[in-house]
Amino acid sequence: MPAVVLVGAQWGDEGKGKATDLLGPKVDYVVKFNGGNNAGHTVVVGGQTYALHLLPSGILTPGVVPVIGNGVVVDLEVLFTELDELAARGVDTSKLVISSNAHVIPSYNRTMDKVTERFLGKRQIGTTGRGIGPTYADKMSRVGIRIQDLFDDGILRQKVQGALMQKNHLLVKVYNRRAVVVDQVVEELEGFADRLAPMVKDTAVLLNQALDQGKTVLLEGGQATMLDVDHGTYPFVTSSNATAGGACTGSGIGPTRIKSVVAVVKAYTTRVGAGPFVTELEGADGERLRDVGHEYGVTTGRPRRCGWFDALVARHTARINGVTDFALTKLDVLTGWDRIPVCVGYDVEGTVLEVLPTSQSDIHHARPVYEYLPGWYEDITKARSFAALPPNAQAYVLALEELAGARVSVVGVGPGRDAVIERHAII
Ligand code: GDP
Ligand code: IMO
Ligand code: MG
Repeated sequence: MPAVVLVGAQWGDEGKGKATDLLGPKVDYVVKFNGGNNAGHTVVVGGQTYALHLLPSGILTPGVVPVIGNGVVVDLEVLFTELDELAARGVDTSKLVISSNAHVIPSYNRTMDKVTERFLGKRQIGTTGRGIGPTYADKMSRVGIRIQDLFDDGILRQKVQGALMQKNHLLVKVYNRRAVVVDQVVEELEGFADRLAPMVKDTAVLLNQALDQGKTVLLEGGQATMLDVDHGTYPFVTSSNATAGGACTGSGIGPTRIKSVVAVVKAYTTRVGAGPFVTELEGADGERLRDVGHEYGVTTGRPRRCGWFDALVARHTARINGVTDFALTKLDVLTGWDRIPVCVGYDVEGTVLEVLPTSQSDIHHARPVYEYLPGWYEDITKARSFAALPPNAQAYVLALEELAGARVSVVGVGPGRDAVIERHAII
């Protein structure tokens, strides 16, 4: 059986956690392949709400093996807190496996994240402050600390020393902070080692063997296509590859193993943090979407910026990820509008574009060109088949499908596990 990739189509918070949970019973492994505890996934099961940050959403499905892949950056304190909280609520967390090659977020990188943001001033990214960017920067600069380093005191000490050599100069001389003490960092990290040891494996071997044996592996992306460091609205992005390509590098599974790529897309658009957002609504309409959709960050509690559906973003996502299926979420939030604008082009100084502009300043100056689709007033939260949706809601889904360029296989009509319409089987 194959590997299936699930990614975010917009700027995150599309409902990836819920979609993963929905596919949970059909899969054997759920792998988080990028990012860290900058993610926030809300999953509602049987009236109980779970907020996951670092752990793969598959941990909530009995029988599934949750895997933290090599592409993830791991804050060990958060890992154990999250595991303890789930265990206290009766969730079996014993199957979790963590790649020995995943990088660790040392506490000094949380500090670096915050001070560098402050220094950027008006050019701030609006990061989650979890140390994600500095940890990926260390990885690329080859001064990162990996999970496996925690089990060799000599190597760990050398690596922490190496990482701090430059950083302490920066912290003291540029950022006016106290120098970080090597021994303290080593002690802190080694304090996690015993509990961590039984979970650590070569996850690339594990996952490839599972695929050889006919098991199904779901690769769950954090963040989203427009936050991808290569394909998003750089520099207003996260520091990992949140797109389908990242699923391969972040897990050690080759592209030929992947059968389908599911992109989770909201029926409108939201964004947290700074950066361009062409269809953003700043007035009462934006507030209405935020209120009805409960658009507040799971990780930082920040209000999400809200706007209309952007077909250029959806097409970009379909292209970059090779999307086979869209899971369209939060259609219920759009109930009650006379007509719903959908962005079909960007007007950049009089020229209308149908593909995202390559130049960053063009995106900043683009104005949305809208097509208006008729709305509906009926409550759709109880609909469990496509035919049960009001005709205008059906037409909205079909229009988005046509504009985005891949079939819409799942439609979400509420936060609960059962509040979905399945049009085509994804797995
Ligand atoms: P993720 O980061 O992509 O997993 O998404 P988040 O969990 O951050 O944000 C999505 C929010 O929308 C969560 O609160 C979900 O419970 C909720 N949600 C998901 N699908 C639907 C849907 O179809 N309708 C409604 N009303 N809420 C949904
Ligand atoms: P999920 O998985 C929405 C945003 C931050 C910021 C930028 C960089 O829940 O969809 P970082 O801390 O990663 O360096 O911040 O990326 N961001 C997210 N926005 N959902 C997320 O995750 C996000 N993870 C990071 O707000 O703009
Ligand atoms: Mg989220």
